[in-house]
Amino acid sequence: MAFDLKNKLAIALEKRSPLFSVTDAYRVVNGSADGFPGLTIDKFGDRYQMQFFGPELLPNKDEIVKALVSIFNPVCVVVKERLSSAGRSLENAPMDVVVGSREDAVGVVREGKALFHVDLMDTINPGLFLDMRHVRLEVEERFRAMSGASSAHSGFRFLNLFSYTCSFSVHARLGGAAVATNADISGKILDKGRENYALNGLDLRPGEFFRGNAIEYVHWAQKKGLRFDGIVLDPPSFARFKGFNFNVREHLMPLVAECAELLNPNGFFMVSSNYSEFNLNAFARDVLAAVSSVHPKAKTSWKKSQDVDFVGSGSTKDSCLVATLVEV
Ligand SMILES: C[S@@+](CC[C@H](N)C(=O)[O-])C[C@H]1O[C@@H](n2cnc3c(N)ncnc32)[C@H](O)[C@@H]1O
Repeated sequence: MAFDLKNKLAIALEKRSPLFSVTDAYRVVNGSADGFPGLTIDKFGDRYQMQFFGPELLPNKDEIVKALVSIFNPVCVVVKERLSSAGRSLENAPMDVVVGSREDAVGVVREGKALFHVDLMDTINPGLFLDMRHVRLEVEERFRAMSGASSAHSGFRFLNLFSYTCSFSVHARLGGAAVATNADISGKILDKGRENYALNGLDLRPGEFFRGNAIEYVHWAQKKGLRFDGIVLDPPSFARFKGFNFNVREHLMPLVAECAELLNPNGFFMVSSNYSEFNLNAFARDVLAAVSSVHPKAKTSWKKSQDVDFVGSGSTKDSCLVATLVEV
């Protein structure tokens, strides 16, 4: 069994080899697609996070930790048991440091030219969503291309709605965006975003941090006549704010159309969701229709799911992502 586990981990790792030169933060195991039903293992530099979404491998937890230690020699391993007795995925899961100490759960990871703070014991989310890596890197490249193509225009602007720790914005600024505006309801999360700016040597510029409802920001920006050259809209599936219940199925497409009004000509708009009921083709079609209501010449640049480390992406509830990018 021990040999078998180590062998399976080594095979899973090999599948991620295209990412080794890009980042030190990626998913090493993605459930049954890698032969580990109900389990995901994420690498954040020298620390690892094991999440049990199903009961199948819980009895083998210690053995899997041992195999992980012998292959990766981690400074820290954190286990999160995300399955409730009713079989539902838990947001406030029990978290346990099984290798190393609480302090070892904190560190910095690299993604392309960017660095990000992570804390595996902070909440179930350590500070960086791995499934958005390929899109973040593209946002940086798009701003680099825009800035390089137009020496006369030096003020390209980026809008990051539901920004979390501002990782998209760090990439946009590294790519040459003059201003990257983040909107999130959590002041604590935005502080982490400011720390990520500092970690990357980026100064904080006026108008870059809005603490509040992203939808209210969009309405305020419309009134002010603000325009952006790139927008990322990556909302949670459900959220509650001041008595308003945001639900992605009902409220996303009208919000896409409102955001489209904030886009400059030649701008791009990336919309994504982890809501497991969305179908990628229908999602991309609806986003294009909503953007086209404002920019009739809009076209879909791509529609996709997760990167190579999310093997079997789209086939399980804990690894579903629909994402599309529209150019106007
Ligand atoms: C799924 S995460 C977004 C992930 C982020 N786009 C990224 O890739 O790192 C959800 C974020 O939305 C924020 N949030 C929830 N409801 C919100 C609202 N009404 N307005 C703004 N932010 C909200 C949460 O605080 C959280 O940081």
